[in-house]
Amino acid sequence: MDKLSFAAAQAQPNIALVKYWGKRDAALNLPAVGSISITLDTLWTRTRVAFDPALDQDRVSLNGRSDAAEAKRVSACLDLLRARAGVNWRAAVDSRNNFPTAAGLASSASGFAALVHAGAEALGLQLEDADKSVLARRCSGSAARSIFGGYVEWAHGALADGTDSVARPLLDAAAWPLRVAVAITSTAAKEVGSSEGMRRTAQTSPFQSAWIETQEADLAAARSAILARDFEALAAISEYSCLKMHALALAARPGLLYWNGATVECMRRVRALRGQGVPVFFTVDAGPQLKAVCEPSAAAQVSAALREVPGVLDVVETGLGAGARSIRVEELAA
Ligand code: DP6
Repeated sequence: MDKLSFAAAQAQPNIALVKYWGKRDAALNLPAVGSISITLDTLWTRTRVAFDPALDQDRVSLNGRSDAAEAKRVSACLDLLRARAGVNWRAAVDSRNNFPTAAGLASSASGFAALVHAGAEALGLQLEDADKSVLARRCSGSAARSIFGGYVEWAHGALADGTDSVARPLLDAAAWPLRVAVAITSTAAKEVGSSEGMRRTAQTSPFQSAWIETQEADLAAARSAILARDFEALAAISEYSCLKMHALALAARPGLLYWNGATVECMRRVRALRGQGVPVFFTVDAGPQLKAVCEPSAAAQVSAALREVPGVLDVVETGLGAGARSIRVEELAA
């Protein structure tokens, strides 16, 4: 290469309904359990990757700023793409989110899905989505799922090299267009990141083996609820998986407490609404934001109820969206 070679991509965050927590191989980033998620729309990461022969190291800008720890993860991800292409060119990466980074809104999922998509295109790699999912998984587990839109399952996989620990679409977003209201209860970066939280949990939580043993049944229940578009069944299995993951992490030493008071109050509000017949359930990841998933007819009522909860700073409403895709560079800042 003797000149700049660039591409841009957009990917959206996903929210796990049956959670990923724990690794069976940290180096390959292989999960201890399979997981099932929904990919969102409205919220996005847009990333431009430009391989440049004039650069002697990668330059990484995230939301207009440089961050050494994130830059290291981005370079490690670019290394996987460079190895695939058999090149050693450094790159300038410019990535933006339209939602708070590192506050439990899965910015690493959309971030690494967009990076892999744009980086592969800039290098001229002809990759299948499944290949991109494997590469994105190596950079951040949940990113494997943001390669695809709608309802997505990421398989535990059986092979030691991890090539079958890949995500695949279960159902299109349009086939069951549920809505999601994200109640933002803090914009601070989380105290313990997912990778460290998973490591601590595996080493110290007495519930780790029960978590792994019971996951297959949860995946089967969620899969059939999704294929049957059975809201009540999906609500039951999703809240169960969420609370079980947090119980597992709470029992680590020291315990991982990702919620604040408003998170808990939002959980109660969602359950109260469901008690009144409103089709809504909650899920919470490794941070204090609460995601309420509902039928479209209930979206306005759910958002209004969450806005009233003391400590809720904002409620962002979104539908389900598409997987990672190429965009024109002009769309980056749009
Ligand atoms: C609680 O994908 O951020 O959101 O693979 O270490 O980068 P790494 O972890 P990450 O973990 C996400 C954990 C979760 C549950 C989920 O998304 O399934």
